[in-house]
Amino acid sequence: MRIAAIVPAAGSGERLGASLPKALVAVSGHSLICRAVETVAQYVDLIVVAAPHGYEKPISVAVEKWSMKTSVITGGITRRESVSLALATLPDDVDYVLVHDAARCFTPGSVFLEVIHGLKAGNEAVVPLLGMVDTIKRIDQNKFVVRTEDRNFLGRVQTPQGFSLSTLRAAHARECSVEATDDSMMVEEMGRPVLTVLGHDLSRKITTSADLEWAEALLARRAP
Ligand code: C5P
Repeated sequence: MRIAAIVPAAGSGERLGASLPKALVAVSGHSLICRAVETVAQYVDLIVVAAPHGYEKPISVAVEKWSMKTSVITGGITRRESVSLALATLPDDVDYVLVHDAARCFTPGSVFLEVIHGLKAGNEAVVPLLGMVDTIKRIDQNKFVVRTEDRNFLGRVQTPQGFSLSTLRAAHARECSVEATDDSMMVEEMGRPVLTVLGHDLSRKITTSADLEWAEALLARRAP
């Protein structure tokens, strides 16, 4: 059973306001990409990282420790394109692919294990999901409430998202009606089932400076 991972890390990090691409921003001395690959490497046989154009070298240096199983490619303009480009480099003997955002570098290993367990149980797409704690409203363009949704049937999806190689390839080969912000969206559009497993609060996507502050505080609490 061969498991590969794709780590999209080609985002600019504009919302973070940093001078470097987000994946190279450090939290407590280690970059987000280094932290993400360190975790991913424990669960997969090979890793493809999609780096921001022009930053392939520093990304390679950041993941050098795992260079035996990691390759770095140039990412695309969109997340979907970055994943597609990485997917095209995977060998055909891979059974499962985990797509994991570099920006979610604090995801606990237990989530990886849950996703892999779901795939091994025969599901072609498995995603971590967290339930909603707030009351959820649908609104219209004028910001008026249309209705209250039943939050028991809603959730926020995270990564790692796991797929059989053939399912992810088929999903990426299709045109998508909207810009896909995750990979499971494309699998849903094919009408294929996507199983959810329990996500984790630590899978927070580092997006803004408030997220970075959260990450620094988390690591400070963990320090001996
Ligand atoms: O922009 P967002 O935070 O949704 O990006 C999620 C992940 O996708 C990040 O890890 C980011 O680096 C990656 N990404 C990418 N290529 C892009 C845009 C985003 O690999 N063109």
